Amino acid sequence: MAEKKAFVTGHPIAHSRSPKIHGYWLAKYGINGSYQAIDVTPDDFAAFLKSLGENGYRGGNVTIPHKEAAFAGVSRRDHAADAIGAVNTLWLEDGVLWGGNTDAYGFAANLDDHAPGWVKNGPAVVLGAGGASRAVIHALRERGIKDIRIVNRTLARAEELVHHFGADVSAHGAAAVGELLGDAGLLINTTALGMHGNETLAADPVGLPGHAIVTDIVYVPLETPLLAAARARGLKTVDGLGMLLHQAVPGFERWFGKRPEVTPELRRMIVADI
Ligand code: ATR
Repeated sequence: MAEKKAFVTGHPIAHSRSPKIHGYWLAKYGINGSYQAIDVTPDDFAAFLKSLGENGYRGGNVTIPHKEAAFAGVSRRDHAADAIGAVNTLWLEDGVLWGGNTDAYGFAANLDDHAPGWVKNGPAVVLGAGGASRAVIHALRERGIKDIRIVNRTLARAEELVHHFGADVSAHGAAAVGELLGDAGLLINTTALGMHGNETLAADPVGLPGHAIVTDIVYVPLETPLLAAARARGLKTVDGLGMLLHQAVPGFERWFGKRPEVTPELRRMIVADI
């Protein structure tokens, strides 16, 4: 049978860890497939989408800066993509180009893995109101968290998300974070603060109750300043690497026909690379 082909596209794309993840699974399951990184400029993206079928691709991943263009460029979208407003996974089904979003799935699966029972931990405080925040909020709502408090430097962006998601979600400026934490069971950072080269996240997990779980979608470094502060206070922490690994699962299953496992070995391999 012909080789099954998939890709990840972005601009730039050299830093992407997705080829390592999918390459690991292709080898582990002995699948005759390939997964390659393709740099496509925004100007060329629409033509790239149109050429997928003739180039023999079953689908692929889409990352920065193409997630919104992919949302607009596909013929059909899954529910998560519509809710989040961005597409990170493409697949061809009977010649029709589908777009999905697996970031919310990856976020929830990471917590299921490392903090089972987390869905009982509302209210949730979400730091940030960008694209990543949308995926997190969608996951929280899908899993039944009733009180989701978005904290953002720019209040208007948090208010846009309240408008978009409606009930259960509220918007707050950065100064309010202290008073929102006292009864919160989940604190999630979706901003790039705490990444190498960025300033340390200002929000300290002071005032969170002892049962609270703190997680970060940033995974470089693996233990962000927020997670380190939370751990020092004895709180349960979950790093962001598992979200990256789990968001890759649904795409791999669609293109290669096997639901892959997020193994400790895969995690160690990617950690060694960070
Ligand atoms: P992503 O898709 O990764 O979420 P984004 O859409 O650019 O990226 O959103 C970045 C988020 O990080 C926003 O919530 C942003 O706050 P603003 O809406 O006020 O810009 C937040 N952010 C980035 N740098 C920040 C900083 N130095 N201080 C506070 N918040 C910051």
